[in-house]
Amino acid sequence: MIMSEPQPILDPLTPAAIFLVATIDAGGEAVVRDTLADVQGLRRSVGFRLPGAGLTCVTSIGSAAWDRLFAGPRPAELHEFPGFVGEHHQAPATPGDLLFHIRAQNQDACFELAMTIGDRLAGAATIVDETVGFRYFEQRDLLGFVDGTENPEGKGAYAAALVGDEDPDFRGGSYVIVQKYLHPMAEWRALSVEQQEKIIGRTKLDDFELSDADQPADSHVAVNTIVDADGAEREILRANMPFGSVKDGEFGTYYVAYAATPSVPELMLTRMFVGTEEAAYDRLLDFSVAVTGTSFFAPPLDFFDELPPPPDAGTAEHVQPNDIGSGSLGIGTLKRSMH
Ligand code: HEM
Repeated sequence: MIMSEPQPILDPLTPAAIFLVATIDAGGEAVVRDTLADVQGLRRSVGFRLPGAGLTCVTSIGSAAWDRLFAGPRPAELHEFPGFVGEHHQAPATPGDLLFHIRAQNQDACFELAMTIGDRLAGAATIVDETVGFRYFEQRDLLGFVDGTENPEGKGAYAAALVGDEDPDFRGGSYVIVQKYLHPMAEWRALSVEQQEKIIGRTKLDDFELSDADQPADSHVAVNTIVDADGAEREILRANMPFGSVKDGEFGTYYVAYAATPSVPELMLTRMFVGTEEAAYDRLLDFSVAVTGTSFFAPPLDFFDELPPPPDAGTAEHVQPNDIGSGSLGIGTLKRSMH
């Protein structure tokens, strides 16, 4: 299989990260396209001056934004985050056209790149969420459990995270889902360590998986372990980061998953929120409230070297009658075509 070089999706977890989610303003498409083409150059400008910082940025694009920015083929499975409604817990879908997942050894590198991208997008896109993630002790989440252990490695990580021959135009790309979860810490701390371990499905101090006999069917690990009829495990690549604000009383996990097909993380979310044959829902959700949820596609690196042309701005057929006067996409497209 010929693989286009992926963005730095498979990189290990870093001590620092910033997640920027932005929506594209009406008429902002041309500036956004220029920015997308320049992100890796901006990353080099910031990162080269900070040797050892290992600054990376994975840039991803949402489903509606794709059609506003590009003509030509779309990633086969790109669609909006569907949202998940269970009897006890819900995962809302929230707006987002662009995702910048910035990682480095140090926060200064992440911040400088985030600021530079923000400058470039000013007036063309609105940053609707900025989350500063940090490493917490031994790659633990704020619930105190080590998070990321069972991520696939090596070839398994490629297969789980990257599009292959099934969509040749987008080989080396990856589907991305992000969600912000908030943890009611007082309630979590009121549990014994043993109760917490049964909710996660692993031991807290040394991070071993509980035996089948000890691991409840509604534990987070049991709900998210999905084995095919042929015995193969369906996997995703997670790069969760803790975040928080003492002032606002926010203590959270920024969930970010890369997958070769969005159907795998979506199946996991269905099992977590709607339940499985053995579990009403994932018990972790009693202590994790989903407040955002957005889906994107991270194209391979060379996609940004030569972006597909913009949707044909010169023909009226892209401007729906309802768009006239609404200040929405059609107007922006029309304006640009008149320049
Ligand atoms: C495993 C935490 C959300 C999928 C784990 C583990 C922890 C954890 C501590 C065990 C160690 C590991 O293998 O990484 C959290 C927290 C979340 C969260 C704090 C948000 C509040 C999610 C979501 C999904 C997910 C939304 C999928 C849609 C998985 C998977 C595993 C896992 C696939 C590995 C299961 C295995 O094969 O052992 N998570 N997680 N997690 N989580 Fe999450």
